[in-house]
Amino acid sequence: MIGRPRIHVPECESTQLLLDSTLPEGAVATADHQTGGRGRLGRTWVDAPGTALLCSVLLKPPHDRRAPELTLVGGLAAAETIEDILGRPAQLKWPNDVLVDGRKVSGGLAEQRHGAVVLGIGVNVNQSPEQLPPDARTAPASLRTIDGRTREVEIVLDRLLQTLDAAYETWLADGLPALHSRIAAHDFLRGHRVRVDGVTGIARGIRTDGTLELETPSGVVVVESGETRVLRTSSTS
Ligand code: BTN
Repeated sequence: MIGRPRIHVPECESTQLLLDSTLPEGAVATADHQTGGRGRLGRTWVDAPGTALLCSVLLKPPHDRRAPELTLVGGLAAAETIEDILGRPAQLKWPNDVLVDGRKVSGGLAEQRHGAVVLGIGVNVNQSPEQLPPDARTAPASLRTIDGRTREVEIVLDRLLQTLDAAYETWLADGLPALHSRIAAHDFLRGHRVRVDGVTGIARGIRTDGTLELETPSGVVVVESGETRVLRTSSTS
C-alpha cells in the first residue's frame, strides 16, 4: 500500500534522498520545500516554499520488471489526479511531464536505488505566476494559475497516492499494456512533430511497452527515452 510509512520534513535538499531501500515498499517522503529539487536529465526542480506537492515513493518491483516504465505509471497517476481535481483535461507529455493547456504542472522522476525505485512526483499546486520558474523549458503553470483556486497540498497528495497505488497494482499484476488505453487517452505528443535526442518525426503514439513511436522520412523509429521537443503542431492523419 503506497503511503505508509510517511516521512514529512519542512525542508530538505530533495525528497528523493529521504528514502532508502531498507524502508518498506510504499514508503512516502514529502517536504514543504526542496533546496536542491531534482528533475530529469540532471535538471533542477524549483519550488516556492509551501506552494508545491513534493513527494517521493519507494517501490520495489520484481527484478525482471522494467523500472523506467514507472515514470509513465507515475505520470498517468498525476495526469488523472490533476484532471479529476481541476475538472479539465490534463495530458501526459512522454515520458514524464503533465500539461494542462500546454503548460507543465507536474513532472516525474524514477531513480533506481539498490534494487528499488524511488519515484518522485512534483505538482505545482498553489504558486502564483511570479512563483513559477521564468526560465523553464516548457512554460509552467500551477493548479492555482489555471483556475484561481488555492488548495490544500495534503488533499492533492492523498488523491495522487490513491490513484498511484491503484495504477501500480495494475502494472504489477498485468504490466503496462493494462494501462495503455489510459496512457494513450492522455498522450500529448501524438500527431505532433517532435525531436527526441536528434531524431525528428511525427509522434505516432506511446506503444504498449512505453516506448514512443516516431514516423520519420526514413521509416518508423522507436525511441526508448530521451529529451522531447515539440517542433510544431501537425495533424494526426
Ligand atoms: C522533471 O520534470 O524533470 C521531474 C521533476 C521531478 C520533481 C520531483 S519533486 C519531488 C521529487 N524530489 C525531487 O527532487 N524531484 C522529484
